[in-house]
Amino acid sequence: MLDSIKSKVKDKKVLVTGGAGFIGSNICEVLVNNGAIVTCLDNLATGHKHNLDAIIDHSNFTFIEGDIRDIKTCIKAVSQSDYVLHQAALGSVPRSIKDPATSNEVNVGGFLNMLIASKDNGVKRFVYAASSSTYGDSQGLPKQEDVIGKPLSPYAITKYVNELYADVFHKTYGIDCIGLRYFNVFGRKQDPNGAYAAVIPKFTKLLMDHDSPVMNGDGSYSRDFTYIDNVIEMNIRAMLTDNKDALNTVYNVAFGERTDLNELVNILKEELSQFDEKIAQVEVKYGPKRAGDVPHSLASIDRARERVGYNPEFSIKDGLKEAMAWYWKNLK
Ligand SMILES: NC(=O)c1ccc[n+]([C@@H]2O[C@H](COP(=O)([O-])OP(=O)(O)OC[C@H]3O[C@@H](n4cnc5c(N)ncnc54)[C@H](O)[C@@H]3O)[C@@H](O)[C@H]2O)c1
Repeated sequence: MLDSIKSKVKDKKVLVTGGAGFIGSNICEVLVNNGAIVTCLDNLATGHKHNLDAIIDHSNFTFIEGDIRDIKTCIKAVSQSDYVLHQAALGSVPRSIKDPATSNEVNVGGFLNMLIASKDNGVKRFVYAASSSTYGDSQGLPKQEDVIGKPLSPYAITKYVNELYADVFHKTYGIDCIGLRYFNVFGRKQDPNGAYAAVIPKFTKLLMDHDSPVMNGDGSYSRDFTYIDNVIEMNIRAMLTDNKDALNTVYNVAFGERTDLNELVNILKEELSQFDEKIAQVEVKYGPKRAGDVPHSLASIDRARERVGYNPEFSIKDGLKEAMAWYWKNLK
């Protein structure tokens, strides 16, 4: 990422919720390493304290273990900050299908608490993790921010409700919000373990162990896989943009290219077989399709380019090269 963007965060006071998770911990690290004063609020439901090892003892970093479902905790966490980067949520479509009530409590109730705490504290900007799942059953590609379909899962509903609340809070209370619809983010520190692991870390670990990854369906489903550094770039740009037209809207955060799952596995095998050539021989298995999955996903990133100057540096191939080297070093 351009040093000129990162350097702008110096001395800014930022609260990152979900900061022990995959995306949040990477954001925290870049912010702290570039001179920001960072508070992280996380209840460690799916995040890990070890994700913060590099910065936990830094004088500019404060970790609060707490739950966004508790408004007092949100108020305390926000009190020292001018900017909020709200990442905390229960991710995963299947998790929300299994337990819609808890996903709603955290992703909607917790979100509302954070918005209330942020407007009461007069924060300068509330940037939040929205989701490409909001496109639901809309067929058109590439996805453009103003054309969405009906949600296909409880998770998708929660993320859409976030956008509605942010819009109403801006209109009613004047708080400036920006929603970032992330498209399948991947990279260092993404958890490969557990029933709800995302496809890239899950398949990577299986391949490293010479076990067969199992596709949901025939592998023709495609995604706009987005490397973590592009997502960090967008968070910083959204937090600091002084373009008034850039505020109180949502942005696709993606690379703008589609890769199907069969192609994805081939790239993973190619990258990983540089470390262990036997990985090239591991076979893929195919299983049934999964409920709630959209067949194809591809973002238009024109709005992000035009309004906040988003210029994603990492293609999927560049990102996978970095990520596979990281997993090999840290999981082996
Ligand atoms: N990873 C993706 O591809 C993707 C795509 C679209 C949207 N998102 C959104 O981005 C955000 C970050 O996702 P991630 O991939 O880093 O997931 P993650 O699970 O690694 O991080 C989420 C973090 O939120 C914390 N958290 C959960 N419930 C909490 C609660 N009640 N109180 C406080 N903290 C809580 C977790 O402990 C975890 O550290 C989420 O809002 C997610 O919905 C992610």
